[in-house]
Amino acid sequence: MNSVPQNDEKLREAVRTRYAGAALQVLGTATTTGETSCCGPACCTPGANAENPITSDLYTQMELGNIPVAAALASLGCGNPTALAQLLPGEKVLDLGSGGGIDVLLSAKRVGPTGFAYGLDMTDPMLELAEKNRQEAGVENVQFLKGIIEAIPLPDNSVNVVISNCVINLSADKAQVLREAYRVLAPGGHFAVSDIVIQGDLPPAFRQDMESWAGCIAGALEEQTYRSLLAAAGFVDIDVEVTRRYSLAEIAASGASATIDALSPAERQAVDGRFVSAFVRARKP
Ligand SMILES: C[S@@+](CC[C@H](N)C(=O)[O-])C[C@H]1O[C@@H](n2cnc3c(N)ncnc32)[C@H](O)[C@@H]1O
Repeated sequence: MNSVPQNDEKLREAVRTRYAGAALQVLGTATTTGETSCCGPACCTPGANAENPITSDLYTQMELGNIPVAAALASLGCGNPTALAQLLPGEKVLDLGSGGGIDVLLSAKRVGPTGFAYGLDMTDPMLELAEKNRQEAGVENVQFLKGIIEAIPLPDNSVNVVISNCVINLSADKAQVLREAYRVLAPGGHFAVSDIVIQGDLPPAFRQDMESWAGCIAGALEEQTYRSLLAAAGFVDIDVEVTRRYSLAEIAASGASATIDALSPAERQAVDGRFVSAFVRARKP
């Protein structure tokens, strides 16, 4: 078992390596075969994997019909923030950890030609894939930015909505990500994020498995901690809506089986049904 690095940059590097592999796999096969299984079960696993309890069936056929196949294949999220967020024509949207660009492209359509959608990601092959998908979709009101969500490369008060799909759990410094989201939002702006959340404490051993962290499980914020960090960043109207709840077997199937095998029976019972996909809403006053 690889341990989660204690150094923030080393953790980002491990996450980057994982998602670069996922993007390269889609870039390498999607154009020739039209299908790929992405990077296997330990990512926030691919939309192409219809059996994955976390990533399957997040988007409607109408939404998928409006975007390039490769954008759908690279979908590694755990929700559909663009469906749950209110996005109005003319608004500016920022997607934290935009991956292959699926939510950025869907947002761009929702905000229309007078609006704009930014995608921010730290992984070069993901940015390449996202830009390729943007060109294929023929969408002009989009820009993909390279950077880290802990230091967003946009000015203060510059966007109306911050979305994100299964990324904040991957960060080593979630408090900093939430402060940055608050900084770039204009007053009255909305935080509208899909993420994996745990309700209650996670056994410490769980937090240490890098496979499980990169798979969006081990880094999940505890629900009350998520609320507290949002409030500490300055957000109001905080709401955490559960969209899916997972059994231990489902969490094991999504890539955390080694970690789960190492738990005691009492620890297993404590986490069974406590992992959820949630839609996290908040507002900057
Ligand atoms: C689980 S994937 C989700 C991608 C996309 N949101 C989706 O729903 O398909 C995580 C993405 O976040 C990016 N990422 C992870 N941590 C990041 C960080 N600290 N800063 C910027 N990007 C990050 C990864 O490169 C990867 O593309």
